[in-house]
Amino acid sequence: MEKSIGIIGLGRMARAIVSPLLESGEYEPSNVFGVVGNTSSIPSALGDLPSGIKVVSSDDKLSVKVWEAPLILLAIKPQQFWEIKESASRFKSNDKSPKPLLISVLAGITLKSLQEAFPKHTCVRAVPNTPTMVREGLTGLAWGDDITSDQKSEVRKVFESISEIFQLKERQLDSFLALTSSGPAYIALVLEAMADGAVAAGLPRNLSNKLAHKTLSGTASLLREKSLHPAELKDMVASPGGTTISALRHLELAGLRSALIEAVVLAAQKSRQLSEEGSS
Ligand SMILES: NC(=O)c1ccc[n+]([C@@H]2O[C@H](COP(=O)([O-])OP(=O)(O)OC[C@H]3O[C@@H](n4cnc5c(N)ncnc54)[C@H](OP(=O)(O)O)[C@@H]3O)[C@@H](O)[C@H]2O)c1
Repeated sequence: MEKSIGIIGLGRMARAIVSPLLESGEYEPSNVFGVVGNTSSIPSALGDLPSGIKVVSSDDKLSVKVWEAPLILLAIKPQQFWEIKESASRFKSNDKSPKPLLISVLAGITLKSLQEAFPKHTCVRAVPNTPTMVREGLTGLAWGDDITSDQKSEVRKVFESISEIFQLKERQLDSFLALTSSGPAYIALVLEAMADGAVAAGLPRNLSNKLAHKTLSGTASLLREKSLHPAELKDMVASPGGTTISALRHLELAGLRSALIEAVVLAAQKSRQLSEEGSS
């Protein structure tokens, strides 16, 4: 039997997830049913996805059909969660065994809230990061109650072509998110500041941006391919009395290392706080 998927919120993240599944033939376009907030956003929701996908807005009476899918991807903004909960409760479905799957990528909405909102579904929390959009992502997964091993495989299939997958306890997701989901912003900030430094030191802007970018990607490749610890690489680059150690002295004085440590801890705390508010 052909597999089908229902997508509630066909925005950037949902498109990044579903696009490779369509390309690989895992799902036929005609078996993908999406719901968006407004009719006017249907063309952009479809983007460059293959034709044949059905997308309606949430006020279309056909939108309830999304609840018939054996697998639902919930990818709205967290603020829209209660609206969706309400629309799910209006859909009368039979109890099925095993229950259909619902994968939520919503930040701050706990498995407990998901399970209470969608009691006829087996829920999974997924935390993908932005690089999933170029298939270089990381996804943390926390399983809901009573999930079967077949359902776990199904969920892994959804994320494996865009990301490396990490199966985690739900309480670990906040820390995972603080590093991997917020991480691209920290790295972008460091990269931008390094390029600014090169401009201040006299290089043209475009060249500085390009060099900063290549320095970052080359360093990541070197660390990975030679299996180097970051400290080993730092020591390799910093020669006695040289330029790098002078710069590193300044970074230590300015507190770069502890600023980054505290940033990750704060992001994890904030994520935990949002989850607590979301479930109250
Ligand atoms: N982007 C990321 O890097 C990332 C990473 C990890 C997790 N996430 C999570 O992914 C979720 C979506 O993020 P996004 O960046 O993809 O957001 P987005 O691009 O704004 O997409 C949100 C989608 O939800 C639709 N929507 C709004 N109200 C709806 C309703 N009542 N019923 C059905 N659909 C509705 C929107 O349609 P309209 O445009 O018509 O309103 C839009 O298609 C968020 O919860 C976020 O926490 C995102």
